This record gives sequence, C-alpha cells and structure tokens, in this order.
Amino acid sequence: MSESTPAIILDCDPGHDDVVAIVAAARHTDLLGITTVAGNAPLDRTTYNARVMRDLLGLEVEVHSGAAGPLVVAPAFAGYVHGESGLDGAELPEPTTPLDGTDAARFIVDTIHARPGCHLVVTGPMTNIALALVQDPSIRDDLAGISFMGGGTFGNRTPTAEFNIWADPHAARVVVDSGIPLIMAGLDVTHQFQATSDRIDRVRAIGGPLATVLSDLFTFFSANYRERHDDLEGAAVHDPLAVLALTHPSLFSVAERFVAVVDSGELTRGMTVVDRRTLVDRPTPNCRVLETVDAPAAWDVIVEAIAAARG
Ligand code: BDR
Ligand code: CA
Repeated sequence: MSESTPAIILDCDPGHDDVVAIVAAARHTDLLGITTVAGNAPLDRTTYNARVMRDLLGLEVEVHSGAAGPLVVAPAFAGYVHGESGLDGAELPEPTTPLDGTDAARFIVDTIHARPGCHLVVTGPMTNIALALVQDPSIRDDLAGISFMGGGTFGNRTPTAEFNIWADPHAARVVVDSGIPLIMAGLDVTHQFQATSDRIDRVRAIGGPLATVLSDLFTFFSANYRERHDDLEGAAVHDPLAVLALTHPSLFSVAERFVAVVDSGELTRGMTVVDRRTLVDRPTPNCRVLETVDAPAAWDVIVEAIAAARG
C-alpha cells in the first residue's frame, strides 16, 4: 500500500533503473505523463524504451520526448552502464502505441498548470525541467515539489559527480537554485538499494512477460555493476527511490540540507555540494536529502508492484 498517491510527471532516460521507477510510478502514483530526455542513451532510444514500458505495463499515459542534448556541455551517454540501447540484456517487445509529442518542456508546463499540486520526479539529466522553468517560471507556483535522483557526497561518473548531474550541470543548477521544494535521492542512499541475486530471483519467480523482462534487465545491470565495482553485490537501483520518496516516505531517513551544484571545473563539474555543517550560521536548507533507505522493505514494494502489474 502506498502511504500517499501523489500526482506526478516522470521525466526519465530509460535506463535499467528508470524502468523500475516507471513500474513504481504506475502502481503508486497518479501518473500524469512520462517525458524523456537524452542521458543513458540518445533521445530516440530512451523514448523508445519508455514506450516499451508503457505497453508492457498497459499504461494509458502520454509519452513526450524532449531534449536531445544538454543545455551547454556536449552530449555524453552511459553505454558503459546500460549498454548502447539503454536497456541491454532483455528481449524487448516492439512498442505498438505511438509517441504523443516531441516537446516535453511544453507538456510539463501545461500539465503542471492543469494539475496544481503535482510533483515532478526526475530520474535523468534535468534538461527538460530547466527548459520548462525558463519557458514558464510560474510553474514554480503550481508545483508541490521535485523529487530527483542525482548527486550525492561522492560521484560515479567522476570522483565528485554523479552521472545525471554531470551530464547536464547547467540544467541541474537551474533546477536546484529554483526555490522549488526538492527531494534528493543521491548516490549515498541509492547505493544502499542493490539488485542482489536473491532479489532478482524473487522478480523472476513472479513469471510473465514483465517480470521476465525486468529480471533479465536486472541480471545484465547487476553483472555490469559487479564487474565495475569491488564493493557492490548488485546494481544500485537508483531511480525508483525518487518515486518511493514521495509514495513511501517512511522507508527513508532524511536530512534538510542546503545543496548547490557546480557546473564547471575539470574535477568539479556536476558535483553536488551538500552542506552538512552544524554551524548555527549556515544557509537555509533547500533540499530534503535522503540519507538511508530500508532496502528490504523497498524491494518488497517493487516486487509487489511488478506482481500487481502482471494482473
Ligand atoms: C543515474 O544515472 C543513470 O545511469 C541511472 O539511470 C541513474 O539515473 C545514476 O547515476
Ligand atoms: Ca536514469
């Protein structure tokens, strides 16, 4: 059971863990639409992958593609994590439902005004969100908040930078400096949520097309993570935590922090600076930073959502 059913727009770059965010959103939110951005793979591929998931889940939500590249820096993808398709490791059914539009920023603006009090959940580079804010700054007033996967006190793309923030640091700055209430699912918390072998086995045991695709994706994703890390038992399943932070907040411990994004510097591009000082004279927090997650309970939520989607 969700603790609450927020209305959300999910902006994503599927991506193995993005598709798990879509599953969680389908089960536990009032999903107003899915928007896609270039990130883990080029835009045509992340959009294709989102459409595949919409069909697999039988979702009746619009999918709109958005930015094909970042605001300022050169595009860079994450084939080394997700494969060139963004979803290597599983046989994906061809999507049969068409794309609904190619202007994600416009869709985001219109949907937020039509549904005041909704949230944005962002699990890829923040380009579409920055473009929406530039196009219509008044969306701030109608948004309840933005829950995003990104950042942390350590990096994965560079020693200091997490991929989503690094991939479009200028967009991330626009969003993080916007004054909109933020929730950050950074690497500190997402590395606690791993697709271990026994957890993948539970998904496979559900049976049916969706669970088969997802368990194949988890198997590829985790093998890749284990090969590239010497301290992880499976892939860090980052993105669904940005959804669960809204739908199942009791799974997390949280700290109110001031967070800033660094948009340049050979060693610092894409770094999130999380102010953990206890000085009385510190900046006012702009972000709820997720610190810990009850990983077994969060995995139960994901398994239940997959089983429920199977019908
Ligand atoms: C983030 O980057 C991508 O590889 C994942 O989908 C996640 O959103 C983790 O750094
Ligand atoms: Ca992602």
